[in-house]
Amino acid sequence: MNVDSKMANVAVIGAQWGDEGKGKVVDLFSDKADIVVRFGGGNNAGHTLVVDGRKTVLHLVPSGALHAHKLCIIGNGVVVDPEVLLEEIRGLKENGFLLDDSLLRVSEEAHLIMPYHKSIDLARERLRGKGKIGTTGRGIGPAYEDKVGRVGIRFVDFLEEDTFRDKLRHNIEEKNLYLKAILKEKTLQFDEIHEAYCGYREKIRKYVANTTLVLEKEIKAGKKVLFEGAQGTLLDVDHGTYPYVTSSSTVSGGVCTGAGLGPQNIHQIIGISKAYTTRVGSGPFPTELQGPEEQKLREEGEEFGATTGRPRRCGWFDAVGVRHAIRINGMTGLALTKLDILTGFKKIQICTAYRYDDQDHREFPSSLRAMERAQPVWEEMEGWNEALSAAREFTDLPIQAQRYVRRLEEILAIPMVLISVGPGREQTILLKNPFH
Ligand code: GDP
Ligand code: IMO
Ligand code: MG
Repeated sequence: MNVDSKMANVAVIGAQWGDEGKGKVVDLFSDKADIVVRFGGGNNAGHTLVVDGRKTVLHLVPSGALHAHKLCIIGNGVVVDPEVLLEEIRGLKENGFLLDDSLLRVSEEAHLIMPYHKSIDLARERLRGKGKIGTTGRGIGPAYEDKVGRVGIRFVDFLEEDTFRDKLRHNIEEKNLYLKAILKEKTLQFDEIHEAYCGYREKIRKYVANTTLVLEKEIKAGKKVLFEGAQGTLLDVDHGTYPYVTSSSTVSGGVCTGAGLGPQNIHQIIGISKAYTTRVGSGPFPTELQGPEEQKLREEGEEFGATTGRPRRCGWFDAVGVRHAIRINGMTGLALTKLDILTGFKKIQICTAYRYDDQDHREFPSSLRAMERAQPVWEEMEGWNEALSAAREFTDLPIQAQRYVRRLEEILAIPMVLISVGPGREQTILLKNPFH
């Protein structure tokens, strides 16, 4: 990878439907960065880090937090549930991390998730019944709706006592009408919410800053930044399987708006993809398996949501979806995770195109109906039986696994920068260092 030493900011972006292993990869790359920035999503994300055999799941705090001295920034594009953030900070401190409060900064322009966002999210899902999106129920969609609808509450508003009180009063009046008349849901009390949030405010105040200025200063001083994506490209509100998506920009374009800087500040865009595919929640999934193969992937891969604990739907690698992600994000390299989970399959399939309307399509369709009808066109590869978790060099992998990785590189037309063979930080084959 031809990058000079000054060109050192890297974005890590999910190339599938989330849970690709972004947390592990960001934790690993954090070693080489000075600053780690979350730029979108909220606590719908669940990023798992395994260090010295100990598992930590982060929902809001950037995955650089397990390294000492890294500045962690929650950017303006993130929607923040203050109760969840405080609980996460408490848990990290209890385990000896994030001891220096100056190493966590929350954008004053980030929007707050309020109790009415959660009530609306849950009530709508209940009313949708079978047609539900399968959201995480964390209030993400309604919080972004309020942001775009210009009635959201930002941290800067939260810190101003009068502004917060006025906005909260106005919003609760409006939301209560909607909750009661349309959603047939319980209404909410202003006093209760106001009191609880004033308590959070005093604990959070010290972290709030104009993070766009912080980033500008640090980048000018030559610091290296790692941008941590949440969710995945196929859940992106513009480029995913709409309406079965989340409500934010999960792609590399979202880094600029969600962190507040220009595109010239992003030098490498690393896509993360599992060696197979998973999806949690509803929506089309052409390569989804049923029966013993799905069960094997779910059990061996421990495919249960890090946020909600829901079983993840599992299927073979979907090169149509990942090629779409590579293009939309301008990905410069790919990290392939969970290759170890494919051990023990006699044959492994790769979906190279979708078949619908009697034709093979290589491009990811925008139409939901097309996605729902799409039948995978398979390319079959030989499997292997050897365990991979001790591999540290590419040549440690059995020849069939090497061929699988090389074939994916060909089909996707992108170089692999790393291969992950286990949840642990060290269970990694690093092929190219994106910071050099
Ligand atoms: P994220 O949301 O993209 O950060 O991914 P999650 O943390 O939700 O889900 C990924 C899961 O796979 C976590 O439990 C990780 O510990 C685990 N994991 C990541 N990479 C590997 C790998 O290469 N092999 C195995 N077996 N597990 C992995
Ligand atoms: P990470 O960062 C997997 C999915 C939900 C649902 C849809 C909308 O851990 O990869 P939302 O609550 O965002 O309104 O739900 O998006 N979803 C995720 N799936 N990983 C995630 O995050 C997700 N965040 C949201 O399951 O289908
Ligand atoms: Mg996750």
